[in-house]
Amino acid sequence: MCGIVAYAGAERQDLGGALLAGLAVLEYRGYDSAGIALAGRDGLKIARTTEGLAALAVKMAAGPAWAGLAHTRWATHGAATEANAHPHATPDGRFALVLNGIVENDAELRRRLAARGVALATENDAETLVRWIELHEPGRDLHAAMTAALAGVTGNYAVVAVHADRPGQLACARRGSPLAVAPAGGGHYVVSDAAAVRAEIEEIYYLADGEVLVLGGGASPALAFQAIPPGFTAPDKAGYESFTLKEMHEQPEALARALAAALGRSLPQRGLDAAALRALDRVVLVGCGSAYLAGCAAKALIERHARLPAEAWVASEMRIADPLLGPRTLVVAVSQSGETADTLACVKLARAAGAPTLALANVDGSAIVRACDAFWPLACGTEVGVASTKAYTAMLLHLAFLAFELGTLRGTVPLAVCTELAHAARELPALAQRALAQLPHVERLAAASAHRRSFLFIGKHLFQQSACEGALKLRELAYVNAEGYAAGELKHGSIALIDDGHPVIAVAPRGPTAAKMASSLHEVRARGAHVIGIVTEGDADTAALCHDVVPIPATMEALTPILAAIPLQAFAYYVARTLGRPIDRPRNLAKSVTVE
Ligand code: M6R
Repeated sequence: MCGIVAYAGAERQDLGGALLAGLAVLEYRGYDSAGIALAGRDGLKIARTTEGLAALAVKMAAGPAWAGLAHTRWATHGAATEANAHPHATPDGRFALVLNGIVENDAELRRRLAARGVALATENDAETLVRWIELHEPGRDLHAAMTAALAGVTGNYAVVAVHADRPGQLACARRGSPLAVAPAGGGHYVVSDAAAVRAEIEEIYYLADGEVLVLGGGASPALAFQAIPPGFTAPDKAGYESFTLKEMHEQPEALARALAAALGRSLPQRGLDAAALRALDRVVLVGCGSAYLAGCAAKALIERHARLPAEAWVASEMRIADPLLGPRTLVVAVSQSGETADTLACVKLARAAGAPTLALANVDGSAIVRACDAFWPLACGTEVGVASTKAYTAMLLHLAFLAFELGTLRGTVPLAVCTELAHAARELPALAQRALAQLPHVERLAAASAHRRSFLFIGKHLFQQSACEGALKLRELAYVNAEGYAAGELKHGSIALIDDGHPVIAVAPRGPTAAKMASSLHEVRARGAHVIGIVTEGDADTAALCHDVVPIPATMEALTPILAAIPLQAFAYYVARTLGRPIDRPRNLAKSVTVE
């Protein structure tokens, strides 16, 4: 999604190159245009493009600069055109800014600007903002102008501005969207993510919500910098054709690391003490996309094992639903990036209601982690591919432990069963490796189905969310219509979709749901479906109901969705590859969704 890398300090010959190198680190998150403004002796030089960072490097001004702003944009207000790309500047070209997030009252500000005779050239809210701040500038310094202007702005945003008349200075502010300052080379970087300039920085200061800062030019305030949390790694494909394929293959190792983290902590911890946990009357899991679906699996496991009412919420819905939250509701925010705007908004809601909050996230220091009372690191390593793979399976692992640990605390799960989970989880890396050995077979099945324009994924109970996740992976990677369903619900409408050869991917491992799943398989076969079954190794009965099968190893039911995810990821991957899709960065998507 949108990324900001800015710098102000002493004049630097390489400033443009350094800012673009920072943006390149964030590039995997997805963007559709990019731009840069460099401030130096000849004023402000701006370049923008929809052609990617290499094209921007060619277009940008050469020569030294004392400040600069670089930005990748993921379109919200206005199409992904060069004109809408950031930075946006005042018509005199002396003041420019970049914006992450959204100015929600853009329409109102446009009306107020129009009433003052200010005509805007684009549909972009960053242009509105630069002109709005300009209006507040006369008679004020940069800090006062930003503060006065932003008092009239609503929305979640991060903004960084540079002024040609104020050498070595940057102004920045944030509300809701992440932004941080890090000293380097005698000046300061201002970044939306520390990973962008990790190699050059040692400490960081995260702006508080609503904070406005002016840095450089003798104006820098004393900031309480903190050491950067470990764990930022430079992305590297390590010989794989894509990050997504690499991350799928990394799952055995990622699960081993996630397990070590899960076994190395206890559920009662700082911010979540045992008394508060025993007093819980409900658990709310909140997330978006795959993180939400992991939450759905956790809901099923928490209710079954901890016998505690649990709900899974899509964050964008929960935040507008006025949910029932209080001190006895544990709110678990599930998020790979830890920056997802809607999930963060729900954490804030939960805190305001006095609910204890737990972040299950991959990025230490991220906004959601900082906003929650307690933090469980996913510990699966950096995930670069937009489609979640190893982070999703690590979420499932941590959430299974959460369900069993809550059960132990409440006396519904004997300690021996919790120990059994730990034993079974220790086998997971090897079992995941065995599931990965099926990839060539999945590749053949996917290539044979890739011409199909519609797919149904079905499963029951825990595996209903596996089906939804398989369908989500296929939609986002291959741009093919795919739906995930509770198998028993098909006959209430969606079975009408099935005609001769219609592909149905059935997540049908052995276990308590197998018998009822067999009935669903009979029903779809009777209507001509072509069934691909994800079945337990050696389960000849279920295999006999499928046209093709992908076997997965047997494990405890609570851990089976982890193994089922692997062939589903691979199926989506190989359909997408057959169709020639750009796998690591599917169209219209971003890795870290920092807008609402
Ligand atoms: O960083 P998060 O886990 O909060 O992201 C949530 C979703 O945007 C994410 O899971 C998305 O659905 C993935 N692209 C799915 O593969």
